[in-house]
Amino acid sequence: MHCKILGIPVQDGAGRMGCEMGPSALRTAGLVAALTDLGHEVSDLGTVTPAPPQPLIHDNTALRALPEIVAWTTAIAEAAYMASGEGMPIFLGGDHSISAGSVSGVARRAAEMGRPLFVLWLDAHPDFHTLETTASGNLHGVSLAYACGQKGFEGYFPKLAAPVDPRHVCTFGLRSVDPAERQALAAAGVTVHDMRAIDEHGVASLLRTFLERVAAANGLLHVSLDVDFLDPSFAPAVGTTVPGGATFREAHLAMEMLHDSGLVSSLDVVELNPFLDERGRTATLLVDLTASLMGRRIMDRPTRSH
Ligand code: ARG
Ligand code: MN
Ligand code: MN
Ligand code: MN
Repeated sequence: MHCKILGIPVQDGAGRMGCEMGPSALRTAGLVAALTDLGHEVSDLGTVTPAPPQPLIHDNTALRALPEIVAWTTAIAEAAYMASGEGMPIFLGGDHSISAGSVSGVARRAAEMGRPLFVLWLDAHPDFHTLETTASGNLHGVSLAYACGQKGFEGYFPKLAAPVDPRHVCTFGLRSVDPAERQALAAAGVTVHDMRAIDEHGVASLLRTFLERVAAANGLLHVSLDVDFLDPSFAPAVGTTVPGGATFREAHLAMEMLHDSGLVSSLDVVELNPFLDERGRTATLLVDLTASLMGRRIMDRPTRSH
């Protein structure tokens, strides 16, 4: 597989600074070597650069860095579109606002290819706020809603070439959902597997069911991995820690199953804040999880191909 790495050092979407260092930390933790060792061809496409932000006025005075994130989203969507269609684009955040661009860019490509795009959102949070409903004003909390074509982004964020069908989205690992998001997720028909569901049914059965849906629809699958999907005891380097997250093995199992499905066509690794890390352990874990997604395995097993 041809892995195409894009560094996207956005931090203005998060509540605290530091995610700008995410791509550097993931490179320092050995991402390229880990992928090369698995036999992949790796191209580091460098760093996405936004155009200068243009002034924007919005009624929600809580919104933070709206012009900056809009400028980033435009640039990221174009870069994601260009990198997709062949090989495996890997988008290195940056906070989760980068997925407004990465998801919308790969969705545009999938639509051109005549394939439905599915999204697996591995996160403590659904990031399903609109510009009206976010109370924090942090735009890493709106990226999934935007990519799904939820209302209220018109005139601010770039017009979507191909909104993702919310019924093709599976949020996985949730344990912090705001009331407005809870309502919007249900109304839109997003599949929600919160931590309670993972406790009860396990990663394997829930994920298998979703992957079977993707395969049955001949879909492409974008995976968006927020560091806070993981329990903070394993992954402390994130600004929005929530206790009770996925364990080390639950996260690896998800990645291993995703690899074996053969369905994943693009990946975000987001919200790493290296300023909060402990001797690089979170960055190293993220590189290892990416390696699992790209085929690293403990022992050989038969691979299912779709
Ligand atoms: N729902 C909260 C908010 O809107 C938290 C969002 C956290 N998002 C993230 N990508 N870490 O502020
Ligand atoms: Mn997130
Ligand atoms: Mn999160
Ligand atoms: Mn469908």
